[in-house]
Amino acid sequence: MLLQNLGKVTAVIGAQWGDEGKGKIVDLLSEHFDVIARASGGANAGHTIVVSGKKHVFHLLPSGCLHEGKPIVLGNAMVIHLPTLLEEIKILKEAGIDVLPRLHISHAAHIVFDYHKMVDGVIEERRLSDTAIPGSAKGEGIGTTRRGIGPAYAEKAYRTGFRMGDLAMMDPDEFKRAFHHNTSLVSKMFDLRITADQELANVDAARALLKKRITDTTTYLHIEYSKNKTILIEGAQATLLDIDHGTYPHVTSSQTTVMGALQGLGLPPKILTSVIGVAKAYCTRVGGGPFETEVPGPRGDALRERGGEYGATTGRPRRCGWLSLSDLAFASRLNGFTHLNLTKLDVLDAEKDIPIFDRAKETILPGWQESTRGLTSFEELPQNAQDYVEYLEKKLNLPASFIGTGPGREEMITKEE
Ligand code: IMP
Repeated sequence: MLLQNLGKVTAVIGAQWGDEGKGKIVDLLSEHFDVIARASGGANAGHTIVVSGKKHVFHLLPSGCLHEGKPIVLGNAMVIHLPTLLEEIKILKEAGIDVLPRLHISHAAHIVFDYHKMVDGVIEERRLSDTAIPGSAKGEGIGTTRRGIGPAYAEKAYRTGFRMGDLAMMDPDEFKRAFHHNTSLVSKMFDLRITADQELANVDAARALLKKRITDTTTYLHIEYSKNKTILIEGAQATLLDIDHGTYPHVTSSQTTVMGALQGLGLPPKILTSVIGVAKAYCTRVGGGPFETEVPGPRGDALRERGGEYGATTGRPRRCGWLSLSDLAFASRLNGFTHLNLTKLDVLDAEKDIPIFDRAKETILPGWQESTRGLTSFEELPQNAQDYVEYLEKKLNLPASFIGTGPGREEMITKEE
């Protein structure tokens, strides 16, 4: 009943600093939606996909891509690293999943080149030098994924960036000339040796494979919607990393809220029926920036080990800590969450007591110290675990409709209102 009540257009949005485990709810919901759309970001995202028993980390294709026959949209506000996309398509193809015919890539999405990654590295090294950038301490970097995200969005803002439509429409020789013209300035600015031949070979390979898949995805989505098709919007990164609303400058370069997702896909707010906010039962952050509820030391280390908190994209250990109610309430207000997906509740099983913060005020809730792993009904949860969830529901005024109790597909409680 709950799934039917989500309505025609549902968005899944990270409520913290990313890595909340959005992939699992997307996987669960994908079966029930007709079209799966990703709006923004690039290969800074990472989710583990198991194909033919083997684990792969995907960065560009949305988590919903494994569902046979479902059209996939890569929206206007995305930034696409071509070799990464080709590699993901190839891995699926080798496993017998041909994603290409159902891929709809926006002509307006921007291309990330390898030189963008180099620029990302140069800028990050400068941040790490002894002169502070505005808003951060001396020598403190942002800890970007070095996937070229910021520089690609910067070129978009300069209006010098290449878009996927250029790949499909521009004469290849003209593309090359424009590439050299653009990069001659970039290489001077950042003192780089750009491997133009390799970059252009990547472009040729991508053109050959993707040309027919590049389209006006906004019109495509509107047509599907008018045919009564349902749309699942898979958010990337998360609310507190949003460039306009997050903890700037320790943010990513895209708009990660539901408003950014609608803008990125070209969908009007009035068609949105549900917004599922995804939050861990605790909190993590990878990269620099404020994290007031962080728990350094052995207790944080234990959370990291139990939760497997290492970055999917970079392998970096994630910083771990407790929930911040004020941050979650902020994310909920901003995105208009209609439902909460609380993930990884089982990671807290061993805790004797669980602190929750509301600004500087700490509340300690009793732990349950028994296994919740794999439970699928709310009533089966130990009383203290039920109380923990209900405390959050009450404080956030939001139903915790989906509660993760383990990494597996089935390890999820679906709670009717
Ligand atoms: P960028 O997006 O690579 O520029 O990185 C900027 C900040 O966002 C860094 O702190 C990254 O660790 C963080 N970040 C970007 N994408 C993700 C993600 O998908 N999950 C978690 N953190 C992310």
